[in-house]
Amino acid sequence: MRKPLIAGNWKMNKTAAEAAELVTILKEKLAGIDEVEIAVCPPAVNLVPVYNIISGTNLKLGAQNMYWEESGAYTGEVSGPMLKEVGTTYVILGHSERREYFKESDEDVNKKALAAFKFGLKPIICVGETLEEREAGKTLDKVRGQVKAGLRAFSREEVIETVIAYEPIWAIGTGRNATAEDANEVIKYIRELVREDFGDAADQMRIQYGGSVKPSNIAELMAQPEIDGALVGGASLDADSFVQIVEGARK
Ligand code: 13P
Repeated sequence: MRKPLIAGNWKMNKTAAEAAELVTILKEKLAGIDEVEIAVCPPAVNLVPVYNIISGTNLKLGAQNMYWEESGAYTGEVSGPMLKEVGTTYVILGHSERREYFKESDEDVNKKALAAFKFGLKPIICVGETLEEREAGKTLDKVRGQVKAGLRAFSREEVIETVIAYEPIWAIGTGRNATAEDANEVIKYIRELVREDFGDAADQMRIQYGGSVKPSNIAELMAQPEIDGALVGGASLDADSFVQIVEGARK
């Protein structure tokens, strides 16, 4: 049985005060839920104040990025041990915004994921196609490349701890979500890809959907057999809508 994970990717939003206000409401309204795992992923500078509020609750902390080196002259970067020490459980890697604006490659994502394990963090690896790739019938090819490269040199145990987020780029921040059936099809394909290399570890790994997830579509997404939760952007910034999404993910 895979426990669904609903994670809020706040992207570059919320000051420390705003972050504190949001998680104070969330921890109260989501208290006691344990059939869905819940994570919030604030900007790095707000990991500490958020963790101070959610520590000891059912809310887990995620970061949005990390560098693969342990420490050193890498101005502007944050390392795995730094994230781990402040209570981080998950780290989002290879989000399409990082791939596009910050030129992260599949190889970078793979190095970061391997470093995440080394320092006791669980990666949420994002994959997904552009609108042009979808329209050209290249969705599965694109996803295949990203999944195979992203999981290179993983152990079976690491695969089980990994979360993949399938986020079609045309669905991110556009209000236009993939249909639940389409998302399920691609996620099923991703699980088959993982099975090729890691056998039945594929059945234990969680694969989320992301892209315009909202209270009105979470139930149909979660009704699909392959979809193990959601990576939520815009709708995770509002307490009521994030609470409704978590509620909607309870089966
Ligand atoms: P939206 O939910 O705002 O479409 O963003 C999705 C996303 O990129 C989550 O990582």
